[in-house]
Amino acid sequence: MSRKLRWGVLGTARIVRKSIPALQETANGEVLGIASRTGERAGEFAEKHGLPQAFGSYEALLESPDIDAVYIALPNALHLEWILKSLDAGKHVLCEKPLAMSAAECGEISRKADETGLKVLEGFMYRFHPRFQKLQELLAANAVGDLTFLHVGHTFDAGGGDNIRWYTGLGGGALFDTGCYCVNVSRMVTAQEPAHLAAFGNYRDANDGGRIDTSIAGMLRFPGGATALFDTGVNLERRNFLEVTGTAGRLYLDNPFGLLEEDSVLEEHHFGQETVYHEVKGANHFVRMGEHFADSVLHGTPLRYDLADAANNARVLEALDAAARTPQPNRTAASS
Ligand SMILES: NC(=O)c1ccc[n+]([C@@H]2O[C@H](COP(=O)([O-])OP(=O)(O)OC[C@H]3O[C@@H](n4cnc5c(N)ncnc54)[C@H](OP(=O)(O)O)[C@@H]3O)[C@@H](O)[C@H]2O)c1
Repeated sequence: MSRKLRWGVLGTARIVRKSIPALQETANGEVLGIASRTGERAGEFAEKHGLPQAFGSYEALLESPDIDAVYIALPNALHLEWILKSLDAGKHVLCEKPLAMSAAECGEISRKADETGLKVLEGFMYRFHPRFQKLQELLAANAVGDLTFLHVGHTFDAGGGDNIRWYTGLGGGALFDTGCYCVNVSRMVTAQEPAHLAAFGNYRDANDGGRIDTSIAGMLRFPGGATALFDTGVNLERRNFLEVTGTAGRLYLDNPFGLLEEDSVLEEHHFGQETVYHEVKGANHFVRMGEHFADSVLHGTPLRYDLADAANNARVLEALDAAARTPQPNRTAASS
């Protein structure tokens, strides 16, 4: 294999406008080409980003012997199919979040990765920002005492029309789009899997039939006594925050999931004492994730997050979806 990991990109998604320049910026990778369902779109994207190769189908890119690894930025419901096809074609895979639509699908991916000996990483890029290293350091130093509450908000407005988020068949809806971050960060901070959960949702007609969640409020109760409360939505004003509260204090991060290349602060609060503002250097989390992945492939080192973690995240999302779709009535409410 060449010294640099040679990337190919599947799909001309909106997100690739951020992720292609980031992969090009990695010290140990280069982006060789992009594939689209149409040759014309692939050509336009290749030209715009200065990529040497454009492919008029995803299959054509997978057949290229020049490509070592693919970055998949397709609608969520297509991840499973294209991850399996990529692995069958001998390519390592970095796939956008969520890795797949269920724990069972993640299990299929895991079995194929084992069988082929290839690497697969779920692309939760936010985990690679130094903000989270700092947060973990503070938690390890017992900055909040007994972890009691996590509050996570992640909302934005996807607009109407044809957005993939409004198609059930493409794996749309708020829970699997932005809600997956809320679940992921809660599991990461507690380093536990939730024992109990509850969720409530708001729905609209999907563009392809059925009802799709526009927003979800959820609660996850962890065995250690911490409760995560989150809200997420794809038809709301943009909000993006994480608050971790315990018996000794509180940590607060603004914009934990967004691309934050400028320096930022992590707030530490202790019962009326002066707030400590920890300065965190700016970084492009896509670049750091790409470099970590390429290092793992090129040097055979383990990935920081495994496929069991992806399956566990999906399992919680599935349970939240089921809970939100069957809300429990308040049995003490007076009947009118
Ligand atoms: N990490 C992040 O910050 C972040 C942010 C946003 C989204 N995401 C994730 O990235 C992925 C893409 O999201 P996006 O919003 O960027 O998607 P998008 O702009 O709607 O693009 C999806 C791409 O998938 C391809 N595609 C294949 N079959 C399709 C179909 N039946 N309908 C529509 N598109 C189809 C299209 O590429 P071609 O036409 O070229 O084949 C299209 O450009 C999702 O998994 C999402 O969760 C991650």
